[in-house]
Amino acid sequence: MMKKIFCSFTIFGIGLFIITAMTGCEGRTGPEGKDASESALEGFAPGIKCATCHNPDLDTTYRVLAKEVQYEASGHFDGGDFSHNSYDCAGCHTNEGFLERYSRGFGNETFNLTAPSGPICNQGYPNASPPGCFTCHSPHSRANFTVRDSSAVNIFTLIAGRTTQQWNSSNASNLCVKCHQPRMTSTFMWASGTTPASWQPDPSKTNTTDTAKIYTSRWNNHVSGEPTQTLLGTGGFEFTGYSNYQSSYHTTLINNKALGCEDCHMATVNSSNQNGGHTFWVRYLASGSTSPSYNVNGCNVSGCHSSNPVVASATAPDAAHWGKRATIIAKIAELGKLMMDTTITQKWSLPQSGKAVPWVTVTTSTVIGDSSWAANASTTKPLVITPAFKAGALWNLQQVQYEKSHGMHNYKYVLALLQNSIDELKK
Ligand code: HEC
Ligand code: HEC
Ligand code: HEC
Ligand code: HEC
Ligand code: HEC
Repeated sequence: MMKKIFCSFTIFGIGLFIITAMTGCEGRTGPEGKDASESALEGFAPGIKCATCHNPDLDTTYRVLAKEVQYEASGHFDGGDFSHNSYDCAGCHTNEGFLERYSRGFGNETFNLTAPSGPICNQGYPNASPPGCFTCHSPHSRANFTVRDSSAVNIFTLIAGRTTQQWNSSNASNLCVKCHQPRMTSTFMWASGTTPASWQPDPSKTNTTDTAKIYTSRWNNHVSGEPTQTLLGTGGFEFTGYSNYQSSYHTTLINNKALGCEDCHMATVNSSNQNGGHTFWVRYLASGSTSPSYNVNGCNVSGCHSSNPVVASATAPDAAHWGKRATIIAKIAELGKLMMDTTITQKWSLPQSGKAVPWVTVTTSTVIGDSSWAANASTTKPLVITPAFKAGALWNLQQVQYEKSHGMHNYKYVLALLQNSIDELKK
Protein backbone atom coordinates (compact mmCIF):
# COMPACT_ATOMS: atom_id res chain seq x y z
CA MET A 1 0.00 0.00 0.00
CA MET A 2 2.84 2.38 0.90
CA LYS A 3 4.45 1.86 -2.47
CA LYS A 4 1.31 3.13 -4.12
CA ILE A 5 1.25 6.23 -1.93
CA PHE A 6 4.84 7.16 -2.70
CA CYS A 7 4.15 6.78 -6.40
CA SER A 8 1.23 9.16 -6.15
CA PHE A 9 3.40 11.74 -4.42
CA THR A 10 6.00 11.68 -7.15
CA ILE A 11 3.31 12.93 -9.49
CA PHE A 12 2.87 16.44 -8.13
CA GLY A 13 -0.56 17.01 -9.60
CA ILE A 14 -2.10 13.96 -7.94
CA GLY A 15 -0.49 14.87 -4.60
CA LEU A 16 -2.01 18.32 -4.74
CA PHE A 17 -5.41 16.86 -5.53
CA ILE A 18 -5.25 14.60 -2.48
CA ILE A 19 -4.24 17.53 -0.25
CA THR A 20 -7.22 19.54 -1.45
CA ALA A 21 -9.54 16.59 -1.01
CA MET A 22 -8.32 15.67 2.45
CA THR A 23 -8.06 19.07 4.09
CA GLY A 24 -11.77 19.46 3.40
CA CYS A 25 -12.36 16.97 6.18
CA GLU A 26 -10.25 18.76 8.76
CA GLY A 27 -13.19 19.78 10.92
CA ARG A 28 -14.21 16.25 11.83
CA THR A 29 -11.52 15.18 14.24
CA GLY A 30 -10.78 13.39 17.45
CA PRO A 31 -12.38 10.96 19.84
CA GLU A 32 -15.58 12.98 20.14
CA GLY A 33 -16.54 11.82 16.61
CA LYS A 34 -19.73 9.80 16.59
CA ASP A 35 -18.68 6.84 14.48
CA ALA A 36 -15.58 5.13 13.19
CA SER A 37 -15.74 6.45 9.65
CA GLU A 38 -15.54 9.97 11.02
CA SER A 39 -12.70 9.31 13.44
CA ALA A 40 -10.68 7.84 10.57
CA LEU A 41 -10.68 11.28 8.94
CA GLU A 42 -8.87 13.16 11.63
CA GLY A 43 -7.60 16.01 9.50
CA PHE A 44 -4.11 17.50 9.30
CA ALA A 45 -2.21 19.37 12.02
CA PRO A 46 -1.67 23.04 11.12
CA GLY A 47 1.58 23.63 9.20
CA ILE A 48 2.23 19.90 8.68
CA LYS A 49 4.87 19.19 6.01
CA CYS A 50 3.88 16.15 3.99
CA ALA A 51 7.41 15.34 2.83
CA THR A 52 8.64 14.82 6.40
CA CYS A 53 7.04 11.41 6.16
CA HIS A 54 6.17 10.89 2.52
CA ASN A 55 9.51 11.44 0.85
CA PRO A 56 12.03 8.74 1.85
CA ASP A 57 14.90 11.05 0.84
CA LEU A 58 13.81 13.73 3.30
CA ASP A 59 12.50 11.42 6.01
CA THR A 60 15.60 10.99 8.17
CA THR A 61 13.61 11.05 11.44
CA TYR A 62 10.74 8.62 11.18
CA ARG A 63 11.88 6.22 8.44
CA VAL A 64 8.26 5.64 7.57
CA LEU A 65 9.02 3.47 4.55
CA ALA A 66 11.24 1.16 6.65
CA LYS A 67 8.53 0.92 9.34
CA GLU A 68 6.03 0.02 6.64
CA VAL A 69 8.24 -2.80 5.35
CA GLN A 70 8.78 -4.07 8.90
CA TYR A 71 5.09 -3.88 9.62
CA GLU A 72 4.24 -6.04 6.63
CA ALA A 73 6.14 -8.89 8.34
CA SER A 74 4.22 -8.54 11.61
CA GLY A 75 1.50 -10.84 12.91
CA HIS A 76 -0.84 -7.83 12.92
CA PHE A 77 -0.59 -7.32 9.21
CA ASP A 78 0.39 -10.76 8.04
CA GLY A 79 -1.71 -12.83 10.44
CA GLY A 80 -4.64 -12.14 8.16
CA ASP A 81 -7.15 -12.55 10.95
CA PHE A 82 -8.86 -9.24 10.18
CA SER A 83 -11.49 -11.56 8.72
CA HIS A 84 -12.69 -11.61 12.33
CA ASN A 85 -14.79 -8.55 11.62
CA SER A 86 -18.06 -9.23 13.45
CA TYR A 87 -19.11 -6.83 16.23
CA ASP A 88 -17.58 -9.01 18.91
CA CYS A 89 -14.20 -9.50 17.18
CA ALA A 90 -13.58 -6.33 15.14
CA GLY A 91 -12.58 -4.22 18.15
CA CYS A 92 -9.13 -5.83 18.18
CA HIS A 93 -8.84 -7.57 14.82
CA THR A 94 -9.62 -4.61 12.54
CA ASN A 95 -8.56 -0.99 12.17
CA GLU A 96 -12.17 0.15 11.87
CA GLY A 97 -13.35 -1.67 14.99
CA PHE A 98 -10.45 -0.36 17.07
CA LEU A 99 -11.20 3.21 15.97
CA GLU A 100 -14.82 2.76 17.01
CA ARG A 101 -13.67 1.71 20.48
CA TYR A 102 -11.34 4.72 20.59
CA SER A 103 -14.18 7.06 19.60
CA ARG A 104 -16.38 5.71 22.36
CA GLY A 105 -13.58 5.87 24.92
CA PHE A 106 -11.81 2.76 26.25
CA GLY A 107 -12.53 3.88 29.80
CA ASN A 108 -16.23 3.21 29.18
CA GLU A 109 -15.71 -0.50 28.55
CA THR A 110 -17.08 -2.73 31.28
CA PHE A 111 -16.88 -6.47 31.78
CA ASN A 112 -19.73 -8.78 32.49
CA LEU A 113 -19.07 -12.49 33.00
CA THR A 114 -22.45 -13.52 31.65
CA ALA A 115 -22.83 -11.49 28.44
CA PRO A 116 -20.72 -10.29 25.50
CA SER A 117 -19.03 -7.17 26.86
CA GLY A 118 -15.71 -5.36 27.15
CA PRO A 119 -13.80 -4.72 23.90
CA ILE A 120 -16.81 -5.07 21.59
CA CYS A 121 -18.21 -2.82 18.85
CA ASN A 122 -21.70 -1.61 18.10
CA GLN A 123 -21.50 -3.09 14.62
CA GLY A 124 -19.60 -5.52 12.43
CA TYR A 125 -17.24 -4.26 9.69
CA PRO A 126 -17.67 -6.37 6.54
CA ASN A 127 -15.29 -4.00 4.71
CA ALA A 128 -12.53 -4.09 7.27
CA SER A 129 -8.79 -3.47 7.01
CA PRO A 130 -6.10 -4.99 9.25
CA PRO A 131 -4.69 -2.82 12.05
CA GLY A 132 -2.26 -0.32 10.44
CA CYS A 133 -0.33 2.90 11.12
CA PHE A 134 -3.49 4.91 11.76
CA THR A 135 -4.81 2.33 14.25
CA CYS A 136 -1.98 2.91 16.70
CA HIS A 137 -0.98 6.45 15.68
CA SER A 138 -2.67 9.54 14.32
CA PRO A 139 0.23 10.95 12.25
CA HIS A 140 -1.81 13.45 10.22
CA SER A 141 -3.70 15.13 13.05
CA ARG A 142 -0.71 15.11 15.42
CA ALA A 143 2.17 15.39 12.93
CA ASN A 144 4.04 12.76 14.98
CA PHE A 145 3.96 9.10 15.97
CA THR A 146 2.82 9.21 19.57
CA VAL A 147 0.58 6.28 20.41
CA ARG A 148 -3.11 6.95 19.87
CA ASP A 149 -4.13 6.07 23.41
CA SER A 150 -2.02 5.43 26.47
CA SER A 151 -4.53 5.09 29.30
CA ALA A 152 -4.35 2.22 31.82
CA VAL A 153 -6.35 -0.96 31.17
CA ASN A 154 -8.27 -3.24 33.52
CA ILE A 155 -7.22 -6.86 33.11
CA PHE A 156 -9.79 -9.29 34.49
CA THR A 157 -9.51 -13.02 34.94
CA LEU A 158 -12.08 -15.77 34.61
CA ILE A 159 -10.88 -17.43 37.83
CA ALA A 160 -13.52 -17.17 40.57
CA GLY A 161 -12.53 -15.08 43.55
CA ARG A 162 -9.67 -13.25 41.81
CA THR A 163 -9.89 -9.49 41.49
CA THR A 164 -9.40 -7.51 38.31
CA GLN A 165 -5.91 -6.03 38.01
CA GLN A 166 -4.72 -2.97 36.22
CA TRP A 167 -2.06 -2.75 33.51
CA ASN A 168 -0.53 0.72 33.80
CA SER A 169 3.01 0.72 32.47
CA SER A 170 4.68 2.58 29.57
CA ASN A 171 2.49 4.56 27.16
CA ALA A 172 3.27 2.12 24.36
CA SER A 173 2.39 -1.00 26.35
CA ASN A 174 -0.85 0.57 27.56
CA LEU A 175 -1.76 0.70 23.88
CA CYS A 176 -0.78 -2.96 23.27
CA VAL A 177 -3.00 -4.25 26.05
CA LYS A 178 -6.05 -2.44 24.65
CA CYS A 179 -6.11 -5.50 22.37
CA HIS A 180 -3.81 -7.97 24.14
CA GLN A 181 -6.29 -8.43 26.99
CA PRO A 182 -8.65 -11.27 27.84
CA ARG A 183 -11.95 -10.92 26.05
CA MET A 184 -15.54 -11.44 27.12
CA THR A 185 -16.90 -11.63 23.60
CA SER A 186 -17.56 -15.32 23.81
CA THR A 187 -17.12 -17.42 26.86
CA PHE A 188 -17.48 -20.97 28.00
CA MET A 189 -19.31 -19.71 31.06
CA TRP A 190 -22.62 -18.83 29.50
CA ALA A 191 -25.02 -21.12 27.69
CA SER A 192 -25.69 -20.35 24.04
CA GLY A 193 -27.90 -22.35 21.69
CA THR A 194 -27.35 -26.00 22.50
CA THR A 195 -24.03 -25.33 24.26
CA PRO A 196 -24.36 -25.53 28.04
CA ALA A 197 -22.20 -23.33 30.29
CA SER A 198 -18.94 -24.88 31.50
CA TRP A 199 -17.56 -24.72 35.03
CA GLN A 200 -15.95 -21.48 36.13
CA PRO A 201 -12.49 -22.31 37.48
CA ASP A 202 -12.63 -21.95 41.25
CA PRO A 203 -9.71 -23.05 43.48
CA SER A 204 -11.98 -23.16 46.56
CA LYS A 205 -14.02 -26.10 45.22
CA THR A 206 -12.02 -28.85 46.93
CA ASN A 207 -14.79 -31.03 48.41
CA THR A 208 -15.13 -34.56 47.02
CA THR A 209 -18.71 -33.63 46.09
CA ASP A 210 -17.62 -30.62 43.96
CA THR A 211 -17.85 -31.46 40.26
CA ALA A 212 -16.52 -29.54 37.23
CA LYS A 213 -18.27 -30.06 33.90
CA ILE A 214 -16.41 -28.83 30.83
CA TYR A 215 -18.26 -28.73 27.51
CA THR A 216 -15.72 -27.06 25.25
CA SER A 217 -12.23 -27.69 23.89
CA ARG A 218 -11.55 -23.94 24.37
CA TRP A 219 -11.77 -23.90 28.14
CA ASN A 220 -9.33 -21.06 28.65
CA ASN A 221 -8.86 -17.31 29.08
CA HIS A 222 -9.46 -16.79 25.34
CA VAL A 223 -6.01 -16.64 23.79
CA SER A 224 -5.70 -12.86 23.58
CA GLY A 225 -4.82 -11.98 27.16
CA GLU A 226 -2.48 -14.62 28.56
CA PRO A 227 0.84 -12.81 27.88
CA THR A 228 -0.47 -9.71 29.66
CA GLN A 229 -1.92 -11.64 32.59
CA THR A 230 1.29 -13.61 32.96
CA LEU A 231 3.42 -10.46 33.04
CA LEU A 232 1.18 -9.24 35.88
CA GLY A 233 1.41 -12.59 37.67
CA THR A 234 -2.27 -13.47 37.37
CA GLY A 235 -4.68 -15.53 35.24
CA GLY A 236 -3.52 -18.99 36.34
CA PHE A 237 -5.38 -21.45 38.57
CA GLU A 238 -3.65 -21.09 41.92
CA PHE A 239 -4.18 -24.25 43.98
CA THR A 240 -4.64 -23.51 47.66
CA GLY A 241 -1.86 -24.42 50.05
CA TYR A 242 1.12 -23.40 47.90
CA SER A 243 3.35 -20.43 48.62
CA ASN A 244 5.36 -20.36 45.39
CA TYR A 245 3.06 -18.12 43.29
CA GLN A 246 5.64 -15.39 42.94
CA SER A 247 6.67 -13.24 40.01
CA SER A 248 9.97 -12.53 38.36
CA TYR A 249 11.58 -9.08 38.37
CA HIS A 250 9.87 -8.28 35.03
CA THR A 251 6.62 -7.80 36.97
CA THR A 252 8.25 -5.35 39.39
CA LEU A 253 9.57 -3.36 36.44
CA ILE A 254 6.15 -3.29 34.80
CA ASN A 255 4.49 -2.04 37.95
CA ASN A 256 7.19 0.66 38.13
CA LYS A 257 6.45 1.70 34.52
CA ALA A 258 10.03 0.73 33.67
CA LEU A 259 9.24 -2.14 31.26
CA GLY A 260 6.65 -2.53 28.50
CA CYS A 261 5.89 -4.96 25.68
CA GLU A 262 7.75 -2.70 23.23
CA ASP A 263 11.07 -3.02 25.09
CA CYS A 264 11.30 -6.68 24.09
CA HIS A 265 8.99 -6.82 21.05
CA MET A 266 10.08 -3.65 19.24
CA ALA A 267 13.82 -3.97 19.92
CA THR A 268 16.53 -2.76 17.54
CA VAL A 269 16.23 -4.69 14.30
CA ASN A 270 18.87 -7.42 13.70
CA SER A 271 20.66 -7.58 10.37
CA SER A 272 18.46 -10.43 9.17
CA ASN A 273 15.69 -7.83 9.14
CA GLN A 274 12.33 -9.48 9.83
CA ASN A 275 12.47 -9.02 13.61
CA GLY A 276 12.21 -6.35 16.30
CA GLY A 277 10.96 -2.84 15.45
CA HIS A 278 7.57 -2.76 13.79
CA THR A 279 7.56 -6.51 13.13
CA PHE A 280 6.91 -6.96 16.88
CA TRP A 281 8.72 -10.32 16.68
CA VAL A 282 11.16 -11.64 19.26
CA ARG A 283 11.00 -15.09 17.65
CA TYR A 284 11.32 -15.04 13.88
CA LEU A 285 12.29 -17.13 10.90
CA ALA A 286 15.34 -15.66 9.19
CA SER A 287 14.90 -15.76 5.45
CA GLY A 288 15.59 -19.20 4.04
CA SER A 289 15.64 -20.80 7.48
CA THR A 290 13.13 -23.27 8.88
CA SER A 291 14.21 -23.05 12.52
CA PRO A 292 13.48 -19.96 14.60
CA SER A 293 15.94 -17.24 15.61
CA TYR A 294 15.40 -14.75 18.43
CA ASN A 295 15.98 -11.00 18.64
CA VAL A 296 17.09 -10.43 22.23
CA ASN A 297 18.45 -6.91 21.65
CA GLY A 298 15.74 -5.62 23.97
CA CYS A 299 16.93 -7.86 26.81
CA ASN A 300 20.62 -7.02 26.61
CA VAL A 301 20.39 -3.28 27.25
CA SER A 302 21.99 -1.29 30.03
CA GLY A 303 20.01 -1.61 33.27
CA CYS A 304 18.64 -5.03 32.25
CA HIS A 305 20.77 -7.96 31.06
CA SER A 306 23.81 -6.17 29.62
CA SER A 307 26.37 -7.52 32.09
CA ASN A 308 25.03 -11.09 32.01
CA PRO A 309 23.52 -11.20 28.53
CA VAL A 310 20.67 -13.40 27.39
CA VAL A 311 22.00 -15.94 24.88
CA ALA A 312 19.06 -17.28 22.92
CA SER A 313 20.78 -20.23 21.32
CA ALA A 314 18.98 -23.51 20.73
CA THR A 315 22.15 -25.54 21.29
CA ALA A 316 24.03 -23.46 23.92
CA PRO A 317 21.61 -21.20 25.78
CA ASP A 318 22.79 -19.30 28.85
CA ALA A 319 21.77 -21.09 32.03
CA ALA A 320 20.52 -17.99 33.85
CA HIS A 321 17.87 -17.08 31.27
CA TRP A 322 17.25 -18.95 28.03
CA GLY A 323 18.14 -22.26 29.70
CA LYS A 324 15.08 -21.77 31.93
CA ARG A 325 12.97 -21.67 28.80
CA ALA A 326 14.00 -25.31 28.22
CA THR A 327 12.84 -26.13 31.75
CA ILE A 328 9.40 -24.67 31.01
CA ILE A 329 9.10 -26.53 27.70
CA ALA A 330 9.91 -29.80 29.49
CA LYS A 331 7.35 -29.10 32.26
CA ILE A 332 4.66 -28.31 29.70
CA ALA A 333 5.30 -31.67 28.03
CA GLU A 334 5.32 -33.45 31.41
CA LEU A 335 1.97 -31.96 32.44
CA GLY A 336 0.43 -32.66 29.03
CA LYS A 337 1.52 -36.29 29.14
CA LEU A 338 0.09 -36.75 32.64
CA MET A 339 -3.29 -35.60 31.37
CA MET A 340 -3.13 -38.04 28.46
CA ASP A 341 -2.39 -40.88 30.89
CA THR A 342 -5.73 -42.47 31.76
CA THR A 343 -4.32 -44.21 34.85
CA ILE A 344 -3.93 -40.67 36.23
CA THR A 345 -7.09 -39.06 34.84
CA GLN A 346 -9.37 -41.87 36.02
CA LYS A 347 -8.55 -40.91 39.62
CA TRP A 348 -10.02 -37.45 39.08
CA SER A 349 -12.78 -37.81 36.48
CA LEU A 350 -15.80 -39.86 35.50
CA PRO A 351 -15.49 -42.42 32.69
CA GLN A 352 -17.28 -41.96 29.36
CA SER A 353 -19.17 -45.07 28.11
CA GLY A 354 -17.35 -46.99 30.83
CA LYS A 355 -13.87 -45.88 29.69
CA ALA A 356 -11.32 -43.60 31.33
CA VAL A 357 -10.71 -40.51 29.18
CA PRO A 358 -7.62 -38.39 28.54
CA TRP A 359 -8.19 -34.71 29.42
CA VAL A 360 -6.35 -33.27 26.44
CA THR A 361 -5.67 -33.77 22.75
CA VAL A 362 -2.45 -32.60 21.16
CA THR A 363 -1.17 -31.50 17.76
CA THR A 364 2.39 -30.43 16.97
CA SER A 365 3.44 -27.49 14.85
CA THR A 366 5.96 -28.54 12.25
CA VAL A 367 7.52 -25.07 12.06
CA ILE A 368 8.44 -24.26 15.64
CA GLY A 369 7.95 -27.69 17.19
CA ASP A 370 5.49 -26.38 19.78
CA SER A 371 2.68 -28.67 20.86
CA SER A 372 -0.85 -27.32 20.91
CA TRP A 373 -3.02 -28.72 23.69
CA ALA A 374 -6.81 -28.56 23.71
CA ALA A 375 -9.33 -29.80 26.27
CA ASN A 376 -10.74 -33.18 25.20
CA ALA A 377 -14.31 -32.00 25.68
CA SER A 378 -17.37 -31.10 23.64
CA THR A 379 -21.07 -30.44 24.08
CA THR A 380 -21.89 -34.12 23.61
CA LYS A 381 -18.83 -35.48 25.48
CA PRO A 382 -18.16 -33.22 28.45
CA LEU A 383 -15.25 -33.84 30.78
CA VAL A 384 -16.57 -34.42 34.29
CA ILE A 385 -13.81 -33.78 36.81
CA THR A 386 -14.11 -34.43 40.51
CA PRO A 387 -13.17 -33.02 42.96
CA ALA A 388 -13.64 -29.99 40.75
CA PHE A 389 -10.44 -28.16 41.64
CA LYS A 390 -8.27 -30.80 39.96
CA ALA A 391 -9.43 -29.30 36.65
CA GLY A 392 -7.10 -26.42 37.48
CA ALA A 393 -4.27 -28.50 35.99
CA LEU A 394 -6.03 -28.46 32.62
CA TRP A 395 -6.61 -24.72 32.91
CA ASN A 396 -2.96 -24.08 33.65
CA LEU A 397 -1.69 -26.10 30.71
CA GLN A 398 -3.68 -23.86 28.36
CA GLN A 399 -2.85 -20.68 30.25
CA VAL A 400 0.86 -21.41 29.87
CA GLN A 401 0.52 -22.48 26.26
CA TYR A 402 -1.20 -19.21 25.26
CA GLU A 403 1.20 -17.15 27.35
CA LYS A 404 3.40 -18.04 24.38
CA SER A 405 6.81 -17.00 25.72
CA HIS A 406 7.72 -20.36 27.31
CA GLY A 407 7.99 -18.63 30.65
CA MET A 408 10.16 -15.74 29.48
CA HIS A 409 7.43 -13.22 30.42
CA ASN A 410 7.35 -14.36 34.05
CA TYR A 411 9.40 -17.47 34.77
CA LYS A 412 8.62 -17.86 38.47
CA TYR A 413 4.85 -17.66 38.04
CA VAL A 414 4.73 -19.98 35.03
CA LEU A 415 6.95 -22.56 36.73
CA ALA A 416 4.74 -22.52 39.85
CA LEU A 417 1.57 -23.02 37.76
CA LEU A 418 3.10 -26.02 35.98
CA GLN A 419 4.84 -27.66 38.95
CA ASN A 420 1.86 -27.38 41.30
CA SER A 421 -0.44 -28.81 38.61
CA ILE A 422 1.90 -31.77 38.13
CA ASP A 423 2.05 -32.35 41.89
CA GLU A 424 -1.75 -32.15 42.23
CA LEU A 425 -2.34 -34.75 39.52
CA LYS A 426 0.24 -37.12 41.00
CA LYS A 427 -1.31 -37.09 44.51
C1 HEC B 1 4.08 12.48 10.60
C2 HEC B 1 4.14 11.73 9.38
C3 HEC B 1 3.20 12.12 8.25
C4 HEC B 1 3.02 13.36 7.72
C5 HEC B 1 3.72 14.63 8.11
C6 HEC B 1 2.04 13.21 6.66
N1 HEC B 1 1.67 11.91 6.55
FE1 HEC B 1 0.38 11.13 5.20
N2 HEC B 1 0.63 9.28 5.98
C7 HEC B 1 1.52 8.98 6.98
C8 HEC B 1 1.49 7.56 7.21
C9 HEC B 1 2.32 6.81 8.24
C10 HEC B 1 0.58 7.04 6.29
C11 HEC B 1 0.13 5.59 6.16
C12 HEC B 1 0.91 4.84 5.18
C13 HEC B 1 0.29 3.46 4.98
O1 HEC B 1 -0.53 3.00 5.75
O2 HEC B 1 0.66 2.82 4.00
C14 HEC B 1 0.06 8.12 5.53
C15 HEC B 1 -0.86 8.00 4.52
C16 HEC B 1 -1.27 9.04 3.69
C17 HEC B 1 -2.18 8.90 2.59
C18 HEC B 1 -2.84 7.61 2.16
C19 HEC B 1 -4.10 7.44 2.97
C20 HEC B 1 -4.73 6.10 2.75
O3 HEC B 1 -5.73 5.86 3.41
O4 HEC B 1 -4.22 5.27 2.00
C21 HEC B 1 -2.32 10.12 2.04
C22 HEC B 1 -3.18 10.47 0.85
C23 HEC B 1 -1.51 11.04 2.80
N3 HEC B 1 -0.87 10.33 3.81
C24 HEC B 1 -1.40 12.37 2.56
C25 HEC B 1 -0.65 13.25 3.29
C26 HEC B 1 -0.59 14.65 3.04
C27 HEC B 1 -1.33 15.34 1.91
C28 HEC B 1 0.24 15.19 3.98
C29 HEC B 1 0.61 16.65 4.18
C30 HEC B 1 -0.52 17.55 4.27
C31 HEC B 1 0.71 14.11 4.82
N4 HEC B 1 0.14 12.94 4.38
C32 HEC B 1 1.58 14.25 5.88
C33 HEC B 1 2.29 9.86 7.70
C34 HEC B 1 2.37 11.22 7.49
C1 HEC C 1 -9.69 -8.06 23.22
C2 HEC C 1 -9.31 -8.03 21.83
C3 HEC C 1 -9.77 -9.20 20.97
C4 HEC C 1 -11.05 -9.55 20.64
C5 HEC C 1 -12.35 -8.85 21.03
C6 HEC C 1 -10.94 -10.73 19.81
N1 HEC C 1 -9.63 -11.07 19.64
FE1 HEC C 1 -8.89 -12.65 18.60
N2 HEC C 1 -7.02 -12.17 19.14
C7 HEC C 1 -6.67 -11.05 19.85
C8 HEC C 1 -5.23 -11.03 20.05
C9 HEC C 1 -4.44 -9.96 20.78
C10 HEC C 1 -4.73 -12.20 19.42
C11 HEC C 1 -3.29 -12.65 19.35
C12 HEC C 1 -3.02 -13.49 20.57
C13 HEC C 1 -1.61 -13.95 20.70
O1 HEC C 1 -1.01 -14.41 19.72
O2 HEC C 1 -1.11 -13.89 21.84
C14 HEC C 1 -5.89 -12.88 18.85
C15 HEC C 1 -5.82 -14.08 18.14
C16 HEC C 1 -6.89 -14.69 17.54
C17 HEC C 1 -6.80 -15.86 16.71
C18 HEC C 1 -5.54 -16.61 16.33
C19 HEC C 1 -4.98 -17.32 17.49
C20 HEC C 1 -5.59 -18.63 17.90
O3 HEC C 1 -4.83 -19.58 18.07
O4 HEC C 1 -6.82 -18.75 18.13
C21 HEC C 1 -8.07 -16.17 16.30
C22 HEC C 1 -8.51 -17.32 15.41
C23 HEC C 1 -8.94 -15.17 16.89
N3 HEC C 1 -8.20 -14.29 17.64
C24 HEC C 1 -10.31 -15.14 16.72
C25 HEC C 1 -11.15 -14.22 17.30
C26 HEC C 1 -12.59 -14.23 17.13
C27 HEC C 1 -13.35 -15.23 16.28
C28 HEC C 1 -13.07 -13.18 17.87
C29 HEC C 1 -14.53 -12.76 18.08
C30 HEC C 1 -15.42 -13.80 18.55
C31 HEC C 1 -11.93 -12.52 18.47
N4 HEC C 1 -10.79 -13.18 18.11
C32 HEC C 1 -12.02 -11.40 19.29
C33 HEC C 1 -7.51 -10.09 20.38
C34 HEC C 1 -8.89 -10.15 20.32
C1 HEC D 1 0.14 -2.14 16.83
C2 HEC D 1 0.44 -0.75 17.02
C3 HEC D 1 1.31 -0.04 16.00
C4 HEC D 1 1.15 -0.01 14.66
C5 HEC D 1 0.12 -0.73 13.85
C6 HEC D 1 2.14 0.89 14.16
N1 HEC D 1 2.89 1.37 15.18
FE1 HEC D 1 4.38 2.76 15.05
N2 HEC D 1 4.73 2.60 17.02
C7 HEC D 1 3.99 1.84 17.90
C8 HEC D 1 4.51 2.01 19.22
C9 HEC D 1 3.99 1.33 20.46
C10 HEC D 1 5.58 2.91 19.13
C11 HEC D 1 6.45 3.43 20.28
C12 HEC D 1 7.61 2.52 20.50
C13 HEC D 1 8.41 2.90 21.72
O1 HEC D 1 7.96 3.69 22.56
O2 HEC D 1 9.50 2.39 21.82
C14 HEC D 1 5.67 3.28 17.74
C15 HEC D 1 6.61 4.18 17.24
C16 HEC D 1 6.64 4.61 15.94
C17 HEC D 1 7.55 5.60 15.42
C18 HEC D 1 8.53 6.43 16.24
C19 HEC D 1 9.61 5.63 16.85
C20 HEC D 1 10.50 4.98 15.87
O3 HEC D 1 10.55 3.73 15.86
O4 HEC D 1 11.13 5.70 15.09
C21 HEC D 1 7.30 5.70 14.09
C22 HEC D 1 8.00 6.59 13.10
C23 HEC D 1 6.24 4.79 13.75
N3 HEC D 1 5.85 4.15 14.91
C24 HEC D 1 5.71 4.60 12.50
C25 HEC D 1 4.72 3.69 12.19
C26 HEC D 1 4.25 3.44 10.84
C27 HEC D 1 4.74 4.14 9.59
C28 HEC D 1 3.30 2.49 10.93
C29 HEC D 1 2.55 1.81 9.80
C30 HEC D 1 3.39 1.07 8.89
C31 HEC D 1 3.17 2.13 12.33
N4 HEC D 1 4.04 2.89 13.06
C32 HEC D 1 2.29 1.19 12.82
C33 HEC D 1 2.91 1.04 17.59
C34 HEC D 1 2.42 0.82 16.33
C1 HEC E 1 -5.55 -3.06 17.41
C2 HEC E 1 -5.31 -4.14 18.35
C3 HEC E 1 -3.87 -4.48 18.67
C4 HEC E 1 -2.90 -3.66 19.20
C5 HEC E 1 -3.03 -2.20 19.57
C6 HEC E 1 -1.73 -4.47 19.34
N1 HEC E 1 -1.98 -5.75 18.90
FE1 HEC E 1 -0.64 -7.26 18.76
N2 HEC E 1 -2.03 -8.44 17.86
C7 HEC E 1 -3.35 -8.10 17.69
C8 HEC E 1 -4.04 -9.19 17.05
C9 HEC E 1 -5.52 -9.23 16.70
C10 HEC E 1 -3.08 -10.19 16.81
C11 HEC E 1 -3.28 -11.54 16.15
C12 HEC E 1 -2.98 -11.37 14.70
C13 HEC E 1 -3.28 -12.62 13.95
O1 HEC E 1 -2.53 -13.61 14.09
O2 HEC E 1 -4.27 -12.58 13.24
C14 HEC E 1 -1.81 -9.67 17.32
C15 HEC E 1 -0.59 -10.33 17.23
C16 HEC E 1 0.57 -9.91 17.85
C17 HEC E 1 1.80 -10.66 17.88
C18 HEC E 1 2.06 -11.94 17.14
C19 HEC E 1 1.48 -13.09 17.82
C20 HEC E 1 1.07 -14.18 16.90
O3 HEC E 1 1.08 -15.33 17.35
O4 HEC E 1 0.66 -13.90 15.74
C21 HEC E 1 2.68 -9.97 18.67
C22 HEC E 1 4.10 -10.38 19.04
C23 HEC E 1 2.00 -8.76 19.10
N3 HEC E 1 0.74 -8.77 18.58
C24 HEC E 1 2.55 -7.80 19.92
C25 HEC E 1 1.99 -6.54 20.11
C26 HEC E 1 2.65 -5.44 20.79
C27 HEC E 1 4.02 -5.53 21.40
C28 HEC E 1 1.79 -4.38 20.75
C29 HEC E 1 2.03 -2.97 21.25
C30 HEC E 1 3.23 -2.31 20.77
C31 HEC E 1 0.58 -4.81 20.06
N4 HEC E 1 0.75 -6.12 19.70
C32 HEC E 1 -0.53 -4.01 19.85
C33 HEC E 1 -3.95 -6.90 18.05
C34 HEC E 1 -3.29 -5.79 18.51
C1 HEC F 1 10.86 -9.00 29.14
C2 HEC F 1 10.65 -9.12 27.71
C3 HEC F 1 9.22 -9.21 27.23
C4 HEC F 1 8.18 -8.38 27.53
C5 HEC F 1 8.16 -7.17 28.44
C6 HEC F 1 7.07 -8.87 26.76
N1 HEC F 1 7.43 -9.97 26.03
FE1 HEC F 1 6.24 -11.07 24.84
N2 HEC F 1 7.77 -12.37 24.49
C7 HEC F 1 9.04 -12.24 24.98
C8 HEC F 1 9.86 -13.32 24.49
C9 HEC F 1 11.33 -13.54 24.80
C10 HEC F 1 9.03 -14.09 23.65
C11 HEC F 1 9.39 -15.30 22.81
C12 HEC F 1 9.76 -16.52 23.58
C13 HEC F 1 9.76 -17.77 22.74
O1 HEC F 1 9.49 -17.75 21.53
O2 HEC F 1 9.97 -18.79 23.36
C14 HEC F 1 7.72 -13.46 23.68
C15 HEC F 1 6.61 -13.94 23.00
C16 HEC F 1 5.39 -13.28 22.92
C17 HEC F 1 4.31 -13.66 22.06
C18 HEC F 1 4.33 -14.85 21.11
C19 HEC F 1 4.95 -14.43 19.82
C20 HEC F 1 5.37 -15.60 19.00
O3 HEC F 1 6.53 -15.65 18.60
O4 HEC F 1 4.53 -16.47 18.73
C21 HEC F 1 3.30 -12.75 22.23
C22 HEC F 1 1.97 -12.73 21.52
C23 HEC F 1 3.76 -11.80 23.21
N3 HEC F 1 5.04 -12.16 23.61
C24 HEC F 1 3.03 -10.72 23.63
C25 HEC F 1 3.48 -9.78 24.56
C26 HEC F 1 2.70 -8.67 25.03
C27 HEC F 1 1.30 -8.34 24.57
C28 HEC F 1 3.47 -8.01 25.94
C29 HEC F 1 3.08 -6.84 26.82
C30 HEC F 1 1.80 -6.96 27.51
C31 HEC F 1 4.75 -8.69 25.99
N4 HEC F 1 4.70 -9.78 25.16
C32 HEC F 1 5.82 -8.29 26.79
C33 HEC F 1 9.50 -11.25 25.81
C34 HEC F 1 8.74 -10.22 26.31
